[in-house]
Amino acid sequence: MGAENAAVILRSASKAIAFTGAGISTASGIPDFRGPKGLWKTYPEEFASINYLSDDPRGFWEFYSTRMGSIFTAAPNLGHLALADLERLGIIKVVITQNIDGLHGLAGSRNVIELHGNMRRCYCSKCGAPYSSSEVLRMIGSGTNPPLCTCGGVIRPDVVLFGEEVKMMPKAISAANSSDCVLVVGSSLTVSPANSIPYLVKQHGGRLIIVNEERTPFDEIADLVIGGAAEDVLGELVAFMANRV
Ligand code: APR
Repeated sequence: MGAENAAVILRSASKAIAFTGAGISTASGIPDFRGPKGLWKTYPEEFASINYLSDDPRGFWEFYSTRMGSIFTAAPNLGHLALADLERLGIIKVVITQNIDGLHGLAGSRNVIELHGNMRRCYCSKCGAPYSSSEVLRMIGSGTNPPLCTCGGVIRPDVVLFGEEVKMMPKAISAANSSDCVLVVGSSLTVSPANSIPYLVKQHGGRLIIVNEERTPFDEIADLVIGGAAEDVLGELVAFMANRV
C-alpha cells in the first residue's frame, strides 16, 4: 500500500529527487550508524572525525580500514537498483546520498551527489596526491599504518569527517531548491547539514516521502511515511511506476 501511495505522489511530481542514507546499504552488508546494530552502538563517533585522524592516524586507520574493506565485498542491492531504474524512467532526477560506499554509481545511477565523499578514493593530506583505497589497504595490510605518501604525508579517505565542511552542500541545496518532491530512503535524518536537504524541499512546498525502518524526526512533516526495508519498498515502487502492476 505504501509503495502505491508513493507512486501516486511521484507521478504528480515533475522534478523528484532521492535522498539516501546508510539504511539503503545495509542489505549490501554495510552496517548503518544508528540502527539497532549501528556502528555508533559499538564505536564512538569521534573515530570518524578529523581530530582523531590528526591526533591518532594509526588508530583512525585501524578503525577505518575495516570499514573500507567492507565496500570491496559489497554489491548494490535492490534498493540501489530501483533508484537507478527510477532515474531511467525519468522519475528521479538526482540521488543525493550521505553514503560513501559508491553503490549508487555501481547500480547505474548517473546523477549522484555524494555529500560525504566516497571511500573508494583516498588522497595525501599533505600534497593532495590521489591514491586508490585498494592501494591504501595493501599498504596497511603490509604493516604500513598510517599509510604514507611518497612525500611523507599521511594518506586519508576522500570523505567528509566530523568537524569538516560539507563542500557538496551548495550543489545539493540547488537540487533541493528546484525539486518538488524528495524520496528519503534509509536515513535517521539526524545529521546536519545533510538533513536540511529534505527539509528544504518541504519548506518551499514540495512533497516529502520517507522510507525507513525506524521513525525519524521528520515523520510529522512528511506527506507519506513508509516503515519498511528499502530493498523491498523500492522494488514495489518501481513495479508501480513502470505500470507493471
Ligand atoms: N531499509 C530501510 N531503513 C533501514 C534499513 C533498510 N534495509 N536498514 C537500516 N535502516 C534505517 C535505520 O533504522 C536508521 O534509521 O536507516 C537509518 C540509518 O540511519 P543512520 O545509521 O543514522 O545513517 P545516516 O542517516 O545515513 O547517517 C548520516 O551520519 O555518521 C554519519 O557520515 C555518517 O553519512 C552518515 C551520517
